[in-house]
Amino acid sequence: MGSTESRLWCVVPAAGRGIRFGGEIPKQYLELRGRPLLLQTLERLASHPRIAGIVVAIAADDRHWPGLTQCGGKPVVAAIGGSSRSESVLAGLRALPDSVAIDAFVLVHDAARPCIGNEDISRLIVLGSAAGGALLAAPLRDTLKRADDHRRVAATEAREHRWRALTPQLFRRGELTVALQAVLDAGIGATDESMAMEHAGHRPLLVEGAETNIKVTTPADLQLAEFFLANEIGTGSQEPQETAVKMSTP
Ligand code: CTP
Ligand code: MG
Repeated sequence: MGSTESRLWCVVPAAGRGIRFGGEIPKQYLELRGRPLLLQTLERLASHPRIAGIVVAIAADDRHWPGLTQCGGKPVVAAIGGSSRSESVLAGLRALPDSVAIDAFVLVHDAARPCIGNEDISRLIVLGSAAGGALLAAPLRDTLKRADDHRRVAATEAREHRWRALTPQLFRRGELTVALQAVLDAGIGATDESMAMEHAGHRPLLVEGAETNIKVTTPADLQLAEFFLANEIGTGSQEPQETAVKMSTP
């Protein structure tokens, strides 16, 4: 069995406070289709045949974590996350079982993206492992404006070659660990794993993913996620227009 057919682990950062969403309960524990959003995300990941197990990074003071040790027959391990996303992912990587080799690929997926589809995961694994690292992303569809301090348009930016970074992102366990540690040491606030890898000199592959793989950030997003899941939109076999595009030099 080649490395492209082996199963891989997924790290799920779920230690955020959901400040932009607001409310008392962190957004990952709000009800989505009658179940906590985080559970929905974990079930979707666990349902993929290539996923071996999941490490969930939760907040140190998390009172809602149900103490899951399994999901869909796959092992689930909890780790204590940190005050930044990078720290949480790093804690998750460190909690991976020893059986996950240093050069094995791992997926990192936001707890707050419950609409992830199996097709996207499959394509990311196949194309990403061949490319040495990759992320799901969506090309910009709207015209992009740069604002000045008074919210006046300062410039219209070229839309070409601009992508929105999604998750999952796929990197080698060792390389990602080193890259995240480096951005943390340098005081760089990396908002995704790719940014840390880029900082370390890597050129991750952009793999086009479904637009429906939204990150629940505001209450309106929760309704949208509910709608996508209820109607099974973007969650299965839809093919995006392009399969993969190499990152180009700006
Ligand atoms: N996350 C994490 N640890 C942190 C911050 C974020 O594990 N210290 C996780 C979140 O739980 C989420 C994912 O990273 O699943 C993406 O982050 P985001 O959508 O920004 O969630 P929050 O940070 O919780 O939201 P906000 O930025 O509005 O506070
Ligand atoms: Mg955040």
